Amino acid sequence: MKDFIIVEHLEDLDAESKYLTHKAKEAANHAYAPYSKFLVGAAVLLEDGTVVTGTNQENAAYPSGMCAERVALYAAVAQHPEGKITKIAVVARRKTGKELMPATSCGSCRQVMLEFEQHQHKAIEVIMYDQEHHWVKAPSAASLLPFAFTKDSLEHGEKK
Ligand code: THU
Repeated sequence: MKDFIIVEHLEDLDAESKYLTHKAKEAANHAYAPYSKFLVGAAVLLEDGTVVTGTNQENAAYPSGMCAERVALYAAVAQHPEGKITKIAVVARRKTGKELMPATSCGSCRQVMLEFEQHQHKAIEVIMYDQEHHWVKAPSAASLLPFAFTKDSLEHGEKK
C-alpha cells in the first residue's frame, strides 16, 4: 500500500482530486442503470485540464453493459488521442439515495487504465471511495493491478 493516500474526508485530498470527484458525482446523476440502480460516474482528467466524464451503461443483455470508468476512458482516448491522462475519479450512489457507495474499480477497468498508462508512459492517479468509507488515491493503475497481463506479456521473447 506504499504511496497510497487514504483519507477520511474528501477535503483532505488535493484540490484537483476534489474537483474531479465533483465532476464524477455530477456525471453519476445521468448514469443509465435501470437494472442495478447503482449509479456510477467517472471523470478523467487530461494533462491540458480537459475533463471527460462517463457513466455506467447497462443493457437488457447484461454483459453488453459497461462500467463508468471504461466509458470515460474510451471516450477520452477517442476524443483526445494525443492527450495524456493524469487522473481518474469514480463515485457511485444508489438511485434512491444521495449517500456515496463504495466503488473501487473492477478488475477490467483497472486493466484498461493500465493499458493506457503504459501506452502514454505516464502514471494515472486513481481516486475511489472504499468499503471503509475512505477516499483512496492510488498513485498509478499499476499499483492497483500487480502481476498484470500487458502488451509486454504478448511480446515476451519476440525479436524487436
Ligand atoms: N460499475 C461501474 O460502473 N464501476 C465500478 O467501479 C463498479 C461497477 C457498474 C457496473 C454496473 O452497471 C453497476 O455498476 C453494478 O455493478
